[in-house]
Amino acid sequence: MLAELLLGAALLYLLWFAVFKKPDGLPPGRWGLPLVGYIPLSGKHMDEQFKDLQKQHGDIYLWRMGTQVMVFLHSYQLSKEALGSSAFLDRPTSEVFRLMEPVAHGVIGSNGNIWHTNRRFSLRQLRDQGMGKSSLVSAIQKQARELVEALKGQASKPERIPRDLRVAVINIIWHMVASKQFEKTDPKLQEFIDIFGDLMKNFGPIVMPDFIPWIKYCLPDFLIRRLFSVEILYTLKDKFFDYCQELIEEHKASLDPDDPKDLIDGYLLDIEASKDDPDTIRTERDLCILILNLLFAGSETTVGTLAFMFFYLANHPEVQRKFQAEIDEVLPKGTLATLEDRSRMPFTEAVIHEVLRVSSLASLGIPHVAVRDTTLGGYLLPKGTIVWTAALTMHHDPRFWNDPEKFMPERWLDDQGKFATKKEGFLPFGVGKRVCVGESLVRMELFIISTAIFQSLSVSPPPGSKVDVSPVPGNPFIKTPRQEKVCFTIRE
Ligand code: HEM
Repeated sequence: MLAELLLGAALLYLLWFAVFKKPDGLPPGRWGLPLVGYIPLSGKHMDEQFKDLQKQHGDIYLWRMGTQVMVFLHSYQLSKEALGSSAFLDRPTSEVFRLMEPVAHGVIGSNGNIWHTNRRFSLRQLRDQGMGKSSLVSAIQKQARELVEALKGQASKPERIPRDLRVAVINIIWHMVASKQFEKTDPKLQEFIDIFGDLMKNFGPIVMPDFIPWIKYCLPDFLIRRLFSVEILYTLKDKFFDYCQELIEEHKASLDPDDPKDLIDGYLLDIEASKDDPDTIRTERDLCILILNLLFAGSETTVGTLAFMFFYLANHPEVQRKFQAEIDEVLPKGTLATLEDRSRMPFTEAVIHEVLRVSSLASLGIPHVAVRDTTLGGYLLPKGTIVWTAALTMHHDPRFWNDPEKFMPERWLDDQGKFATKKEGFLPFGVGKRVCVGESLVRMELFIISTAIFQSLSVSPPPGSKVDVSPVPGNPFIKTPRQEKVCFTIRE
């Protein structure tokens, strides 16, 4: 009897070490149970839980969600170290990245040769189409002018930010990708806006099966699609691929090899040039996913950041007045900004940077995964560990920011009133080899569009109220602005 008890105890002890105990060397945090990981029972919002975990464990902690071992980095230094290291170059496997293909294509979610080839291609193409250069300025100015007219149309009454903002931002990317512009009333455009909206709203449930991959063996496919809203990904892919295929056929018919006019033409020429290469990754499906990546990454983020800018400026009339004074001083009435004006408009740059800081739209960045066992912050992170970099907390870290909760563009100016690009503690676009592909484009858009708007209009909260600048709750990954109402008024 005693021998059996001892054997039972020994087995339990081994089981504890093999299955239940957090392996040595990992950061502190929530380990939980096999298969399900740590399930929070408090009902607290995820952001609150992250705060609690940071308070308890510091800048690096672990949370096993389902079967995925995740590490969250809340410090600027650790995030920079991780994002700059080849050990964390890859993206984890996720249906959102893979879009039901055998491997992820495009650039955001892909790895290895597919990622490398597409990243180089996207950067080259976006630059050829004017990213960071004067050649794109007039296309952005055109969209800015149309947006100003739309805002004038709703002036003097409390209204939500009109969809014209989204149309303007999408049209800038569309100009570079397909040499096209959507009409505001185009039903195709509305369809994509709706699906993107659904995707943002249901991001949490959609990524759930990534955390508990074994659920696929327990439930039939149709139920998983319904239960976790994965259906949205199927709809998005089907509709977008059909539309993209039409565009590709149009482009093939008009392709001039000596004068490629946009990103699609550039890709089609690459397909032709690599057709005899057995290892080529160039396919029309890959092109469709690449376009979808650019459209999604480039529109939701930019639209959200601009909407946050309107909300913060509505709540801070004194900042708005200073911003407008600089616009009036530098830009002759009715003239829109160009890239050359940036160096003469330090306060404008300061406003843009402060909005990027306070809004921190990509609040947890985009996840990376350890491609090999590696050490970070004194801990051992095994291959497969998923790493999130918490930009939102970094951007509110009192070690880098005085009064971090305050909206204070002046913090970006030096004693002489010059714009000082403060790098420490600021990572809205990530860093390293996977840094945001569209960073220069966003900077151009924010500069030209915001100066065009505040040259002609002012914004304020509806009478007697303040605009709620807190993001839509419930999505820990992307902080989108609420559907608040504001009043635009035409400036004399
Ligand atoms: C305010 C606007 C934007 C913000 C805050 C933002 C932020 C980010 C962040 C944090 C990452 C992840 C970097 C990493 O993995 O370490 C990223 C990646 C990316 N962004 Fe942006 N982004 C913005 C606009 C854009 C635009 C306009 C485009 C393109 C038209 C774009 C295209 C991409 C792509 C393709 C990646 C993936 C890069 C890769 O995996 O190699 N983004 N962005």
